[in-house]
Amino acid sequence: MKNYSLSEILENNRISENIFSIVIKNKMIAQSCKAGQFVEIYLDNYKNLLPRPFAICDVGKDGDAVRLVYQLVGEGTEKISQLKKGKLVRILGPLGNGFELKEKENIAIIGGGIGIPPLMQLTKKLVYESAGANIDIFLGYRDELFLNEEFKLIRSGFNDVRVHISTDDGSAGYHGNVVSHIKSLNKKFDIIYACGPRPMLKAVSDFAKENGGECQISCEERMACGFGVCVGCVIKIKDGDSFVYKKVCKDGPVFESKEVLWDE
Ligand code: FES
Repeated sequence: MKNYSLSEILENNRISENIFSIVIKNKMIAQSCKAGQFVEIYLDNYKNLLPRPFAICDVGKDGDAVRLVYQLVGEGTEKISQLKKGKLVRILGPLGNGFELKEKENIAIIGGGIGIPPLMQLTKKLVYESAGANIDIFLGYRDELFLNEEFKLIRSGFNDVRVHISTDDGSAGYHGNVVSHIKSLNKKFDIIYACGPRPMLKAVSDFAKENGGECQISCEERMACGFGVCVGCVIKIKDGDSFVYKKVCKDGPVFESKEVLWDE
């Protein structure tokens, strides 16, 4: 049964040219969500618009609110960006499977563009709960940076945790994409967690295969309705010598990269 609730917007701010951060009060979601899960927001005054899926970026420090960081990509996100503090929205969640955290020594977290926010809660859990692990966090941007300072704050005080920035235009950090960046360091990882656009996830998957470690990828950029009706989110998952279609919103958004059939 779907468990909607009416929840109050506590903040809704622009954090870079096209990226917004919204904080919504909802204790149930904040206290039950796993890193990598998502919620849906319903716009009651715009019945022609489908609900919009949003990856959970983080939970409030008091455990009673969730933060979503999103990009303006159309009419739905435009309307959401205009919602003011104090407004009530219908929200459904937490949805999806989320990441499965493993105890490993050498960990890479790789985010590209709007795939960076869904990795913040995961990063906090791994940094604060994996004592002694080596954690490399790779954040790849086209040009303008966002959330980079917050990721640096998470690592502060942990000598074995590093944040690596790359930009496609070379305006900050490594000049090039995030996968070239990770390759340039010539390191081995026991596990990789990644979220970003599909070409990046495929390149991460190829890297993980060569590197030899496990790899979990979040394909959440493929979602449309977010609740299993539009079939707009299916991807091919290997099944013996053949494949089956799975829905990113219901069966994912997180999959083992080696399960995914990339060449469609
Ligand atoms: Fe519509 Fe998955 S997003 S079925």
